[in-house]
Amino acid sequence: MSAGDEAASRPVLVAGAINTDLVARVEKAPEAGETVTGSSFAIFGGGKGANQAIASARSGAPTAMLGGLGDDDFGRERRADLDAEGIDTASVARRESTPSGVALIVVEEATGQNRISYVPGATRTIAADQARDAVARVQPAVILATLEPPPEALAALFEAGKQRGSVVILNATPEAVGARPFLGQIDMLIVNETEAEDLIDSPVSAANGEDAALALSRLGPKTVAVTLGAAGAAIIHDGETATFPAPRVEVVDTTGAGDAFCGAFAAELARGADPFTAAKVGVAAGSLATTVPGAYPGIPRRGAVQRLLAER
Ligand code: RIB
Repeated sequence: MSAGDEAASRPVLVAGAINTDLVARVEKAPEAGETVTGSSFAIFGGGKGANQAIASARSGAPTAMLGGLGDDDFGRERRADLDAEGIDTASVARRESTPSGVALIVVEEATGQNRISYVPGATRTIAADQARDAVARVQPAVILATLEPPPEALAALFEAGKQRGSVVILNATPEAVGARPFLGQIDMLIVNETEAEDLIDSPVSAANGEDAALALSRLGPKTVAVTLGAAGAAIIHDGETATFPAPRVEVVDTTGAGDAFCGAFAAELARGADPFTAAKVGVAAGSLATTVPGAYPGIPRRGAVQRLLAER
């Protein structure tokens, strides 16, 4: 099937963080002990899991979210954001004694590159039973998870997903080493260059993206995508490799670009596309995400992604 076909999509279940991003734009990010004066401040919806769920939903897949929010203003705002996208939030727990997740983000004006510190809050309360219930309720064709939920919840999610025949994708972020126990259990792995390096213990760049994907596939998953920033993504699937370069765009803010890749990739798979087509679409979605400030606002809809692909 080509990426342009409008086949009905099966459900995608996304597990991960739902954050509120507090974003300062600065000329140059501060060094340790340094204070810099920023040019602007804004609050956006964020969280890798929520960004990926929005990317999946904007790519046309029926999407459900597994997550946790506090009983606070940020929690209510983020739940409303997801509801407004048509995302099923019935498996997003509301915790009375744990706050919603927050991320402090500094974005450099010239490059759009960011530095992020995040506090997961209620994301760390996602429970194994909550994960099993979500799989039983949503019956996902595709499960997409980050490493933000606790390992016990992820183990239960993956086990339940495999039992019902879902395609299980792990985006090994934010700290890739947490993926090691799951590499034999998942179908597909998505990592950026740094995360790939952490898992294979050797340098990864655009020059060796396909080799890195091959090395990672030897650790378990038969499909591995390595995102390479402006260079696009390298992928291996069933022993065959390919690289999809990113379209040239004017980069304003890279926050959420990797998440846009993951969500669009999962949605394409749920639509029946092969992993190579899904990666090509994911690269275009990730590129478009860098052209707009903020995580949720930057995530493109499928129509915009298809138009960008058609222009190339
Ligand atoms: O991937 C980007 C996200 O990571 C941000 O939205 C922020 O919440 C951080 O966790």
